[in-house]
Amino acid sequence: AYVIALPCVDVLDRACVDECPVDCIYEGGRALYIHPDECVDCGACEPVCPVEAIYYEDDVPEQWVAHTADNAAFFTEGLPGRETPLGGPGGAARLGPVPADTPLVAALPAHPL
Ligand code: F3S
Ligand code: F3S
Repeated sequence: AYVIALPCVDVLDRACVDECPVDCIYEGGRALYIHPDECVDCGACEPVCPVEAIYYEDDVPEQWVAHTADNAAFFTEGLPGRETPLGGPGGAARLGPVPADTPLVAALPAHPL
């Protein structure tokens, strides 16, 4: 799967969302998160991000590798502000923005990059 890493935090450009053929890029409070089981690895999102936040899972820069598991955690764990795991929502447009972030993203300073 592809992964959204730290550069997205507090930027949320959303250009990636329009490119995804399976609508698997979900909006949290401070960043967007790719559902690792819904992403079909088409790669269309990666080149359109203006801050180069998106990487194939094997190519995530070393300083941001924690974001791979963190993207998954957005769906599999209950989070502050959203106690129930999202699971596999099957479409970001239908779900809409979720007012919650993972502990990793929530703990970052404002505009970390
Ligand atoms: Fe974030 Fe880049 Fe998408 S800033 S919302 S990953 S286009
Ligand atoms: Fe969608 Fe990007 Fe995956 S466009 S299918 S999230 S590689």
